[in-house]
Amino acid sequence: MKIKLAVIGCGKWGLNHVRTAYKILGKNLISVCDTDTSAQEKVQRISEKIKFTNNIRDITDNSEVNAVIVSSSAETHFDIAKECLLAGKNVLVEKPITLLSKEAVELVRISVEKNLKLMVGHVLLYHPALLTMKEKIDSGEIGKLQYIYSNRLNLGTIRSEENILWSFAPHDISIIQFLTGSVPEYIGAKGAAFVQQNIEDTTLTYMKYPGNVHAHIFVSWLHPFKEQRLVVIGDKGMLVFEDSLKTEKLKYYKKGFNIVNGEPEKFESEYEVITFPEKAPLEEEQMHFFDCIINDKTPRTDGVHAKEVLEVLETAQSRLNE
Ligand SMILES: NC(=O)c1ccc[n+]([C@@H]2O[C@H](COP(=O)([O-])OP(=O)(O)OC[C@H]3O[C@@H](n4cnc5c(N)ncnc54)[C@H](O)[C@@H]3O)[C@@H](O)[C@H]2O)c1
Repeated sequence: MKIKLAVIGCGKWGLNHVRTAYKILGKNLISVCDTDTSAQEKVQRISEKIKFTNNIRDITDNSEVNAVIVSSSAETHFDIAKECLLAGKNVLVEKPITLLSKEAVELVRISVEKNLKLMVGHVLLYHPALLTMKEKIDSGEIGKLQYIYSNRLNLGTIRSEENILWSFAPHDISIIQFLTGSVPEYIGAKGAAFVQQNIEDTTLTYMKYPGNVHAHIFVSWLHPFKEQRLVVIGDKGMLVFEDSLKTEKLKYYKKGFNIVNGEPEKFESEYEVITFPEKAPLEEEQMHFFDCIINDKTPRTDGVHAKEVLEVLETAQSRLNE
């Protein structure tokens, strides 16, 4: 079976999908759709051979196309993904998969009924550094998981259709879900809006996972510099992944406390830099999508995973509103 792909939504991020898909698939990237026809020029600069359309029907009615990447704005994801699934296409939707978890449930139902793959673009779960962290956690190198925190901060693209929680935190929620292999038992959140009324620029989400694992996520687009820092604390050691650094992105710290004669006794040593394969996460994500379709596998970030992330977002949002 050959993948014949279309991409719907070709804005800032969608263009990355188009470039990446063209690199992987070449002429089997059949078509790109955007309601804004000014996207055509950018697509044609990648290849003259990619068909451009501003009508999604040209994709859903095209029986040659068997896979679609949806990278339009978040509020359009549900309708577009549903239309594509109903037309028999396997679908990779950008995050957030939909705006409501009940919509994600409906997409999952259709994909199961039609035996199609449904995947969400939680791209960090395809980052080789994160996969290396997961291996180290699962092999017991840092002992029992205790605390995880993620800072995702920047003077970033401020959105008016969604707050920082919905814009940045899906990544961190999906990461913590992946690392713990579970969903939170407790969720609390606070946030503040400064730049636009009622649209939080900064939020802090606190979560408790089964097995006494605690976590927090601090996201902000009102911050003087870019920081993407993920810290994982175990009772035998600690892992730190800083994607915003140029070098030494992933480190292992053999630090912590042992109880000796009933008293906490500190142990610590120099950090160790951990290497990981140099692979582009978006390319890995798309190749995983294609592999799942061709070899009938369940995507790492399937519709169920996406729905669980959305449920955490919804609860966190309701706590912000309290
Ligand atoms: N995974 C990641 O790391 C990551 C990073 C950035 C953005 N995103 C997600 O990707 C999506 C797109 O983000 P962006 O920054 O490219 O936004 P954008 O506003 O730059 O682009 C959205 C594009 O979709 C088009 N569009 C809107 N409605 C459409 C429709 N009905 N049919 C076809 N095209 C339509 C718009 O014309 C626009 O060109 C969002 O869901 C965003 O959250 C994910």
